[in-house]
Amino acid sequence: MKIGVIGLGFVGLSLTSVLASKGYDVVGIDIDNEKCKKISNGISPIFEPELEKILKNGLKKKLKISNDFTLIKNCDLLFVTVGTPQNTNGSINLSIIKKAVHTIGKNLQENKKKPIILIKSTVIPGTMKKVILPILEKKSNEKAGKDFELISNPEFLQESSAIRDTKFPHAVVLGGNQTKFMKKAKNFFMKLHPNVPIIITNHETAEMIKYANNSFLATKISFINQLSNICQKIPGANVDDIAKTIGLDPRIGKLFLNAGPGYGGSCLPKDMKALINFANISGINPTLLNAVEEVNTKQLKQIISLTKQKLGNLSSKKITILGTAFKPDTDDIRDSISIELIKKLLKMNAKIIIHDPKAIKNTKKVFEDKIDYAKTVRDALSKSQCVIIMTQWKQYKKLNNNEFKYMKRKFVIDCRRMLIEKQLDVDYLAIGLGKEK
Ligand code: UGA
Repeated sequence: MKIGVIGLGFVGLSLTSVLASKGYDVVGIDIDNEKCKKISNGISPIFEPELEKILKNGLKKKLKISNDFTLIKNCDLLFVTVGTPQNTNGSINLSIIKKAVHTIGKNLQENKKKPIILIKSTVIPGTMKKVILPILEKKSNEKAGKDFELISNPEFLQESSAIRDTKFPHAVVLGGNQTKFMKKAKNFFMKLHPNVPIIITNHETAEMIKYANNSFLATKISFINQLSNICQKIPGANVDDIAKTIGLDPRIGKLFLNAGPGYGGSCLPKDMKALINFANISGINPTLLNAVEEVNTKQLKQIISLTKQKLGNLSSKKITILGTAFKPDTDDIRDSISIELIKKLLKMNAKIIIHDPKAIKNTKKVFEDKIDYAKTVRDALSKSQCVIIMTQWKQYKKLNNNEFKYMKRKFVIDCRRMLIEKQLDVDYLAIGLGKEK
């Protein structure tokens, strides 16, 4: 069996590498030739734990990387893993996926294997039937269900654990018609992921499952963030103990209850906006989803207001930001709350110096010489008047008085309560922690 993967971002490259390392005959295709060259040489264009190792492993087997879309003509299965970004009004932007399926469609006639096309990209309900299927049939002059098949196969992997999640997903969702193609797809996944539940449903439900998943995760985060704000007003209250305890209730579950500066990244904020937009268009007022977003926006405002409460006017004040990646173990800064914070602080003429173990290169692309970049945390803290810990990188847990002594004013805002246990000779504020009077 030959497998093609179109689009080598987080999802596509992880899938390509995992399948190839398991010995499948895989071709990973991307329009970006430079990216393809790098990947062919065993270099991952993104930082993701385990990815490079598993990619190299795959390259030793039957993996080919190319920008040549005609290679899909030999494939039995084709995964589409291209991005679906957002338009300025929050709605989903389908231009990339349309282009990709357009090209697949054009090459379909050459494929005599009656391939199954599995769409992993996140798409708003109705897109498969109303947009993707018509493009494929028109461009190929072939019929779905007869000459090829189209299946929704939403992805749930998280950045920073992409390889583990690709190997061990919590579920496999297959949306489409109950045809012999669907049986074939099911058999493929049963072999790939024995004991993982496979949910077979229609396109629309599969499309909606993905939004349900991400919007529920965002809701959990905003819920705990709202509670953390309340905790801050109760002397001695600690949101982590509350999260840990309610997380023991199996009806709640312990994950995604880590209060902080709000959710960021290339998925949750975008998918929330797309779902809100879709609900509005469908005539449903998304009251709860709007509130989830509002709480998220307010977290950032709160950090700025805490900073101002202590430092007054922020103009010319030197502020250190620890962590610009949207979460630890990634170099991804897309829709990172930290990046938003820096933009806002710059507008107030603050002087910013940042540290991040992996994301400096990407951060430089955004701010260039508008901010300073430190190689070590100590350098970042030197002569600073405030430090804001934004990303929960493990190494920030080691911070102690030795590092803080180089600050001009020892004022620490800890958005992830990383230093809560330490006896620090600093003015310490933590999100979700009620300060003892
Ligand atoms: C998210 C989903 O978790 C994946 O299941 C999904 O496949 C993916 O989007 C996608 O749609 O492609 P990801 O964007 O990698 O994955 O990031 P998350 O781990 O969900 O974190 C998102 C944001 O929420 C981060 O800013 C993180 O710091 C924040 N977060 C997460 C919290 O503030 N608290 C938590 O308890 C968990």
